[in-house]
Amino acid sequence: MASNENLVFRLDSCNTTYAFKVNSTGHLEHLYYGKKLNENTSFDVLSLKQTNPIGYGISYSENNNNLFFDNLSFEISTSGKGDFRTPAVDIDYNSGLRTLDFVYTEHKEISGKPQLDSGLAQSYSVDSDASTLIVELKDKILPIYIHLYYTVFYKSDVISRCTVLENRTKSSITIKSLASMQIDFADSDWNLVSFDGAWARERNINRRKVQEGKTVISSNLGITGHNHSSLFSIERPDCTEQNGECYSFSLVYSGNFENIIEKTPYGMLRVLSGINHETFDWKLEEGELFIVPEAVMTYSSEGTNKASLNLHHFTNNHIIRGIWKRKERPITFNTWEAVHFDYDEKRILELAKNAKNTGIELFVIDDGWFANRDNDRQSLGDWFVNTKKFPSGLAGISSKIHRMGLSFGLWVEPEMISRRSMLFGEHPDWAVVIPEREPSVGRNQMILDLTRQEIRDYIVSSMSRVFTEGSVDYVKWDMNRAFSDIASLKTVTNGMFLHRYIQGLYDIMDKLTKAFPEVLFEGSAAGGGRFDLGMLCYMNQIWTSDNTDVLARTAIQEGTSYGFSLNTMINHVTTSPNLQTLRISDIESRFNVACFGVLGYQLDLSSMSLTRQNIIKNQIEFYKKNRALFQFGSFYRLPKTHGLSDRTQWAISDQDANNIIVLDFQRETIANPGHEILRIPFADSSAVYEISSRIQSSDTLSIKETETEQYRVSGDILANAGIPLNSSFSGTECNEGTRVIGDFGSRLYIIKKVNKN
Ligand code: DGJ
Repeated sequence: MASNENLVFRLDSCNTTYAFKVNSTGHLEHLYYGKKLNENTSFDVLSLKQTNPIGYGISYSENNNNLFFDNLSFEISTSGKGDFRTPAVDIDYNSGLRTLDFVYTEHKEISGKPQLDSGLAQSYSVDSDASTLIVELKDKILPIYIHLYYTVFYKSDVISRCTVLENRTKSSITIKSLASMQIDFADSDWNLVSFDGAWARERNINRRKVQEGKTVISSNLGITGHNHSSLFSIERPDCTEQNGECYSFSLVYSGNFENIIEKTPYGMLRVLSGINHETFDWKLEEGELFIVPEAVMTYSSEGTNKASLNLHHFTNNHIIRGIWKRKERPITFNTWEAVHFDYDEKRILELAKNAKNTGIELFVIDDGWFANRDNDRQSLGDWFVNTKKFPSGLAGISSKIHRMGLSFGLWVEPEMISRRSMLFGEHPDWAVVIPEREPSVGRNQMILDLTRQEIRDYIVSSMSRVFTEGSVDYVKWDMNRAFSDIASLKTVTNGMFLHRYIQGLYDIMDKLTKAFPEVLFEGSAAGGGRFDLGMLCYMNQIWTSDNTDVLARTAIQEGTSYGFSLNTMINHVTTSPNLQTLRISDIESRFNVACFGVLGYQLDLSSMSLTRQNIIKNQIEFYKKNRALFQFGSFYRLPKTHGLSDRTQWAISDQDANNIIVLDFQRETIANPGHEILRIPFADSSAVYEISSRIQSSDTLSIKETETEQYRVSGDILANAGIPLNSSFSGTECNEGTRVIGDFGSRLYIIKKVNKN
């Protein structure tokens, strides 16, 4: 994989090359990351030239008078030697001394991806589908070592990075910051794409030109959070979904992160990603190692969509594990938006009966089944069933649901404790609080101190009991507040607390997922507050957002799709008006958007008309037929069409574009709207396709059932021109061919390859 010739390291994946070298002073100079280069290309010419002195520049040393670190590209940077950009490594090794100078000592290559003893989530390889280069650096004076790990996941076109710091000095040192990855680009003509929002509007796409200075995208909530995703991309300004250069980055971590994108005075770009240094301060004792969270990066020369597909491939092959890795996920009924806390066994069984009739496969009792949990002010921590609601206990309700032919699942929120709980009565010191201060609360609850072994043990044993008693097939693991009042009463210093918490959480999840390998685990943090690759190492899928509004979902799911595959995204059809936005929408359109991923329902089925129930039945039948495609197909964000109305168009396709389903979603109806085109750039141009629209029963636009559209078209037309669709309603007459879509309405087109030309 890497060639040691002249100490140039070259890493190749299927379509990309990454290269760096040891320069004349022993530092690691970054040379290249991009489209795959010819096998015997020489990299010598790629070194950035420094033939003239820089006015006001700091040269590395008197002997290296023409070497200015401030405008070179490095694999890993420190401060104090003339590089004034944000350093990847910042260590206080002696009462404020922070100048370190790491130079190459040795390297080795190994097959596969080593699992490091970091207590953190990490990707994995199978057999030898990956290889790893480890380069060791040492400070010029002190025995402080850095080991840089580069794992190439060949088929995914992904390289993962990890940094290990080793303190072989005779005293402790303090890590102020240590990035998981650094890339210095030689120029800064880039757009930055980040995925931002807040609770119930996660991961909205935010694209802007990289500007002078530093852009920091980070979390200080203690979790990845709803506000920003640790996923981000750097694209050329002319990059589109299908063409152009795009780099995407993601962290295998669920705690506070920071991504720094810094345009330098010399017009270069430094990109750093790792733990948020603002809430981190790590004392590393003599002989200890510190291993950062793994960072993942990919490059595409074929636009943004290909970068997403690379990350999807990586997630499905090297992050998600266990029996659910490639297994189709069941269609869920979840009680939350249907009944909230207001239920007993009778109501649950009625809902389950209706769910079964519509074809649903998994019945999940959400919040409210335990202790006195009749509202969100109490009982977190008391993980025993409420026998007033379920007289025959968890075993009883579970077996009744199972007997109906449904799988059974439960909601839990194990990381939390309510003040009004028996657990708090017994262990008031288990909550994360500062004793002399009145603690702040989120959703009336406090967080358990997972840095403590006895608390982790309690969670593992109480959850194991619940999962066993309930014979659960599925678990929804929720987490509904950010951190405040950070302090650990027993174990660690405060600067170490949040990272230790995440290690504690991973430890618990590791134990439980291994003890219950058959169970399908779904992560949630008030929706998509912990949508990251770290969680996905344990949780097979994630509740994408608490917002189930159809319009909001097009933005949330589209943003999420930049980094995460559809089988990780859970989407539920809920009631109208929507409970988060009060928007009224058509149930068919809600389904059309929700089926791009793992489908579920949260509606009061018992109070629903038979007609409505039949609509759902048809939807489920359709989804089941196409489930493999919706969950494991390749996802495309189609280019914007040139019609007048604002639309979202997505496609999901099998490997050879034999079967494709397209969503055509309209944000807003406009009068007299002009033409809409359906174009599939990746269609097989040597084939013929048949296209038909899914027939929908409209419930908000009572004019008629949806029109039928059928086309037979050659793949080259579909790929290059697209087909004009039937006219939309334009304020005059309406016949059986007219597309009456309405605000937030949509259609699905089923596209099948029938033969070759
Ligand atoms: C937040 C979750 O995201 C919701 O789906 C629901 O489970 C509630 N918590 C229950 O408290």
